[in-house]
Order: sequence, then C-alpha cells, then structure tokens
Amino acid sequence: MSRTVGDGLSELRGKLAAAGIESSAREARRIMAAALGVAPDRVSLMQTDPLPHAAEDRLSGMAARRCAREPLAHILGLRAFYRHEFRVTRHVLDPRPETEVLVEAGLGAPFERVLDLGTGTGCILLSLLAARPGAEGTGTDISEEALAVARENAQGLGVADRCNLLKSDWFSAVEGQFDLIVSNPPYIAAWEMDTLEPELRYEPRGALTDEGDGLTAYRAIAAGAMAHLGPGGRLLLEIGWRQGPDVSEILRAAGFDSLRILSDLDGRDRVVSAARTLSGP
Ligand SMILES: C[S@@+](CC[C@H](N)C(=O)[O-])C[C@H]1O[C@@H](n2cnc3c(N)ncnc32)[C@H](O)[C@@H]1O
Repeated sequence: MSRTVGDGLSELRGKLAAAGIESSAREARRIMAAALGVAPDRVSLMQTDPLPHAAEDRLSGMAARRCAREPLAHILGLRAFYRHEFRVTRHVLDPRPETEVLVEAGLGAPFERVLDLGTGTGCILLSLLAARPGAEGTGTDISEEALAVARENAQGLGVADRCNLLKSDWFSAVEGQFDLIVSNPPYIAAWEMDTLEPELRYEPRGALTDEGDGLTAYRAIAAGAMAHLGPGGRLLLEIGWRQGPDVSEILRAAGFDSLRILSDLDGRDRVVSAARTLSGP
C-alpha cells in the first residue's frame, strides 16, 4: 500500500525534531507543501491522500538539506517578511523577523527619498517603497549577487521603477541626499562567529560579520551619513542586542542627535534611531 501524505508528514516531523529543529511541525508542513506544490494550509486537508512518488523524491531531498541545518528559506527559495514574500538565495542574508521593527520605524514618519545600505534581498528598502507609493529609493550592496536578488524582488513587488540598486562600499558610489537612511549592516564580532547556530554557516559571511569588533560598519556609516542626509533627516540602524550604547556613542560623536533605542518583539534592543538637526550644517 502506498504511503499517505500523513505518513510522510509524521516521518518528516520526527527527522527534523531529531536534527534539533525546534519548530519541526510547522517546518514539516511547509516542506511537505513545497514537495506537493500546494499552499501550506492545504496539507492538513490532504492527510489521507496518497503521497505521489515525485513528491516523495522531492521531500527526501529537502528533508536531507534541512536536517543538515540549511535554512528553510534557502531550501524553499522564499521568505515572508513584513507584508511580502522575498526571493532568497545563498548569496543573501535570510531576512529576520526582528528587522521588521526597522521597517515599522521607517514608516513612522513621512519620507520621499530613502537609502538602504547593505540591502541584501532588498527586504527593508522594498517593504518601505511598497508601503509609500510616492517614495523613491536607492539600495546598495558590496555583493553583485545580492544586488541581482534585490532586483528580482523589486520586480516582484512592482517597485523596480522607483528603485535604484547599485554596487557600493557603504557610501562610496552614493550621490545626493535622502530624508531617510536605513541599514542592517554586518554586526557580529569575529569572535562570536563560532558560537552561532548551525544555519548561519550557509549564509554569506560578509553579511554577518565585519571580521572585527562588530562595530566597523557603524563607524563607516556614521562617518558618511551626515553628508547624505537632508536637514531633519532620519537614520535608522539595526543593531545586535548589546550594541545600543556603543552605536549611540558612535552616532553622537558624528554629530547626530535625538538618539533613541527601539526594542524588538522579544524586548531586546534592536534599532538605533537618530536624526540630523534641522538647524545643523
Ligand atoms: C546583515 S545583511 C542585511 C541584508 C538585508 N538588508 C536584511 O536586512 O536582510 C548585511 C548586508 O550588507 C552587505 N555589506 C557588507 N559589507 C558591505 C559594504 N562594505 N558596503 C555595502 N554593503 C555591505 C552584505 O553583502 C549584506 O547584504
């Protein structure tokens, strides 16, 4: 007798749990849905359906990758972030739910021109542009492969005509002024890299760490941001949860004021918000 979707699902759940994956039930449903080519909420209605051979093959391939702790978003090629789905490959950081705090903060005040430094998938910039139909944006990255993914996502969200994606080492190729600058830069210190969860081995190292003390990117961004921010403009930077005081100090020393630290849904420091004073140089 052929196996059912329910049989495959419970076997997969067991394998994922044995590999140390916490949300094994939810992930098993997502993987089964991808193997069957249906939406995840259909899977529970298909428990008694026979599991087709082609789906069984796809399932075992995806299960092996996930049990080796490859991120689910890499296997599915997609990640839901804020209000949209983003294409994700091994060349970009898998967008994290914590980063949605930065998007919310960006949307908390009006802006017409936004710059996103280190755009990766484009998840921050493109979410902001999709929510503000009158705004224009520039996204930069040092990685050409990441920029190709961001371009594909810009097309997918229908904002490509309002979005300029360019290769730049922080501000090196950026021209003009913006009223909002955002960034989620690599902020993990070199010494922390060996202590992280196994999934991070599959992400681009240059998206995670500065190979230094975790603050190198903030120093570079603070040094260049004032020249590219109009009077009254805002700067929003994602941070590691212990970096609030250090990043605030770097920004204060660079002449920013109205410094605030915003928390994520777990109550951890996640974003430093700063402004260029209206009367400044
Ligand atoms: C933590 S990831 C953030 C990606 C995306 N913004 C997000 O929030 O998911 C950091 C990004 O910064 C880029 N990056 C690293 N060094 C850079 C540099 N010197 N100039 C510009 N981008 C850089 C990486 O390639 C990576 O895409």
